[in-house]
Amino acid sequence: SQPIRIGIAGLGTVGAGTVKLLREHAELLALRCGRPLQVVAASARDRKKDRGVDLAGIRLESDPLALATAPDIDVVVEVIGGSDGVARQVIETAIAGGKHVVTANKALLALHGSTIAAQAEAKGVILGFEAAVAGGIPIIKALREGLVGNRVKRLYGILNGTCNYILTTMRESGRDFADVLADAQKLGYAEADPSFDVDGIDAAHKLALLTAVAYGRPVDFAGVYVEGIRKVGALDIRFAEELDCRIKLLGLARETEHGIEQRVHPCLVPKTAPIASVDGVFNAVAVEGDFVGQTMFEGRGAGAGPTASAVVADLVAVARGHGLPAFVVPAARLASSPGSPIERHR
Ligand code: NDP
Ligand code: HSE
Repeated sequence: SQPIRIGIAGLGTVGAGTVKLLREHAELLALRCGRPLQVVAASARDRKKDRGVDLAGIRLESDPLALATAPDIDVVVEVIGGSDGVARQVIETAIAGGKHVVTANKALLALHGSTIAAQAEAKGVILGFEAAVAGGIPIIKALREGLVGNRVKRLYGILNGTCNYILTTMRESGRDFADVLADAQKLGYAEADPSFDVDGIDAAHKLALLTAVAYGRPVDFAGVYVEGIRKVGALDIRFAEELDCRIKLLGLARETEHGIEQRVHPCLVPKTAPIASVDGVFNAVAVEGDFVGQTMFEGRGAGAGPTASAVVADLVAVARGHGLPAFVVPAARLASSPGSPIERHR
């Protein structure tokens, strides 16, 4: 049967990890999809750089837009990053040309997700963004599929691997903030601009996407209250221990009488709470639905392998023809779907 032909825009941590997974599991995936997943082309600024993966047979472009317009590509994976500029151009051009899109770009979707989803739906193509939230945890699919029968009362979680890694390592080793952040960067966890991680912005991007899917509302990043972990010092971590608590950067969305509240900030969590023992680069998302009750999802929140796992899940959905609508409610109806409005904090 016909392969699904993939173009990967970006060959950094996530792009190279995705090529590796697709190569190593080519047979398994072909069996699971009923057709091969074939990487036809990829792009990076530096075409000569060693990416640590076998790129044989993959056409290398320096301009990612070449993938978005290539007639031999069915689906574009956007793993460049950035909330506007080239990433947005690649995605919108691909969709306009009738290509499916898979992206890990929460910064872009948190600002323009409802618009881009509407474009995808108008063209009848799939917009997959499992990798944009909580790394390898399949939380978008859980909300969009497994939990779709519920009204979500609240959801909360650890949504940034870099911050959780920093807070855990500071607590366990007493090392200082800047030193541990540098480690997280080396490990490929941090954003290109790590202030997005440590200032809570990345977690807020992810929370805005989770809220949109869980409550069927337009993505509203501006409605998220955000505070990061820069001010958390060694003393705070020690005092938390004395109180039998841990400090975690949490994102939380819940229905209140005023609407849907969205917040990201450091929290004191009792050590007995399951989320308190989610450490290192791990993320966790707890979802409380009216019929299902409490659920909790845990896994690695950043890094090449976990993120590639999520990207490939979306590629399989594309190959199987699943994946619409992106935000649980058709994008054209997000603004008018029943339910509470999102509270505005700033
Ligand atoms: P990297 O910085 O490692 O890779 C980015 C890639 O895009 C590089 O190959 C780079 O080329 C290319 N690129 C960057 N800017 C341009 C440009 N202006 N024009 C063309 N190509 C460009 O990023 P990551 O792989 O870490 O992240 C990619 C996306 O995935 C981001 O949206 C990020 O938020 C998201 N993400 C990352 C996770 C992670 O754990 N790292 C987890 C979940 C999501 P070159 O290599 O030649 O410089
Ligand atoms: N920088 C992000 C994090 C990558 O540390 O969680 C995964 O989205």
